Amino acid sequence: MDKKPEEPPEGVSRRHFLKGAGAAAAAVSVAQLPSEVQGSNGTEDEPTILGPGPVPIQLRINGVDGQTEAAPSTTLLDLLRDHQGLTGAKRVCDRGSCGACTVLLDGRTVDSCSMLAIDAVGSEITTVEGIGTPENLSDLQQAFIEKDALQCGFCTPGMVVSCTALLKENPSPDREQIRRGISGNICRCGTYQNIIEAVEHVSRKGGK
Ligand code: FES
Ligand code: FES
Repeated sequence: MDKKPEEPPEGVSRRHFLKGAGAAAAAVSVAQLPSEVQGSNGTEDEPTILGPGPVPIQLRINGVDGQTEAAPSTTLLDLLRDHQGLTGAKRVCDRGSCGACTVLLDGRTVDSCSMLAIDAVGSEITTVEGIGTPENLSDLQQAFIEKDALQCGFCTPGMVVSCTALLKENPSPDREQIRRGISGNICRCGTYQNIIEAVEHVSRKGGK
């Protein structure tokens, strides 16, 4: 029987299948991409084919414009970690289910492991490094420390990004709203209660 189109071919992992599918999508949709992504020569009638090799990609990350070269199939997470040295966002599940790789795209939370870097062209990307630094922590990052809201710390950058987005949208969330705000982030160490207290602490102080 014929396979359904979305099923990976035998012997190909789901991740590589998705990455390959992403490259194909990039090839067919390049005509709609912002001009910051440059591919091979094309005419107005024929779409430019990107990849599979590296192409220049311009992104605005933490308020700074920059250009890097990466294959069109590169995920935003891989680009941040492997090309930009921004290792705050963590690769844990690598399939959009744990939230460890959460970053902000125009102020909204996204799983950076599950989107292509080229799809972030033209958007403002904010990573946990852009929220605060060790020398200048945000109120929420400080509250995470004070409320002991982390153990192994692997989920923490994603949690901080999600909670920062929550407080920006709703400076006075109740407990249920906080739980919903972090519902896409998994903490295997189970520090949810302390995370909620950290958010409440910042909310009471009117911080961010
Ligand atoms: S690593 Fe991206 S959601 Fe888990
Ligand atoms: S602190 Fe370990 S996973 Fe959350």
